[in-house]
Amino acid sequence: MDTTSPNYSTKVVRYFIIASLIWALAGMTIGVILAAQLYWPALNLDSEYFQFGRLRPLHTSGVIFGFVVNILMGTSLYIVQRTGHCEIFNKSLSWMVFWGWQLVLLLALISLPLGYTTSKEYAELEWPIDILIVIVWVLYAVLFFGTIAKRKVTHIFVANWFFAAFIIVIAMIFVVNNLEMPVSFMKSYSIYAGSQDAIVQWWWGHNAVGFLLTAGIIGMNYYFIPKVSERPFTLIACLSSISGDWSVSIRGQARTT
Ligand code: HEM
Repeated sequence: MDTTSPNYSTKVVRYFIIASLIWALAGMTIGVILAAQLYWPALNLDSEYFQFGRLRPLHTSGVIFGFVVNILMGTSLYIVQRTGHCEIFNKSLSWMVFWGWQLVLLLALISLPLGYTTSKEYAELEWPIDILIVIVWVLYAVLFFGTIAKRKVTHIFVANWFFAAFIIVIAMIFVVNNLEMPVSFMKSYSIYAGSQDAIVQWWWGHNAVGFLLTAGIIGMNYYFIPKVSERPFTLIACLSSISGDWSVSIRGQARTT
């Protein structure tokens, strides 16, 4: 039996956590500005770049894709290595995912105040950035599932099932909702029309909350809460979490279809 301790990649995890904190600070600062603008509309400073309508998607993208996704990517890569007793699938790939995701966020930070938007809530980013998101997400999926495949234990710890659901469902709903026809660089129109567009948009909107803000966070908690509280992970908690995962999946999909 191999008794050497795996060389876990923690540096990239630290970077994800630091990035998450930076985006949280930026996103929430914009949230405070928005709240103030709701009370004092003159705070838009008569500038097109500082309008509520342009800053609001910057706030939601900053907190959801900056604060939350960074923390989920970082903790998922930490947990999948620890629970699988193995090294990360590929170190270079982990850095590509990290910097690729920060590039997505930087492009959001530039393009949204400039007024480039699809006008779909939580899916405002224009088509070239969407393509970058898909590339980074596929690399992240390869990294996560590649590490699962490398694991030295037979079982797959429950947190990883939640992260797997998060990665797969977000990929699926993101692609379907963002199918669009580019008409120029940074301008596209949805391929859906009228009420169909609204239905697909909220299939995304609702399930993004379900799988990104819920499933991913639950996955993180299933590892860190027992760890931090030093309470054993019980069989009942394990079974309830697995049934919880499937009920989140089925309920989330059923409610919006
Ligand atoms: C200092 C903390 C925060 C402040 C001051 C703040 C402020 C705001 C404001 C003013 C709005 C616009 C409300 C409107 O359009 O009527 C908003 C929307 C939103 N914020 Fe925040 N926010 C904060 C933190 C967060 C965090 C941590 C998250 C998620 C991780 C978040 C997620 C959202 C979402 C999803 C919306 C859109 C809600 C909707 O359309 O129903 N916010 N926030």
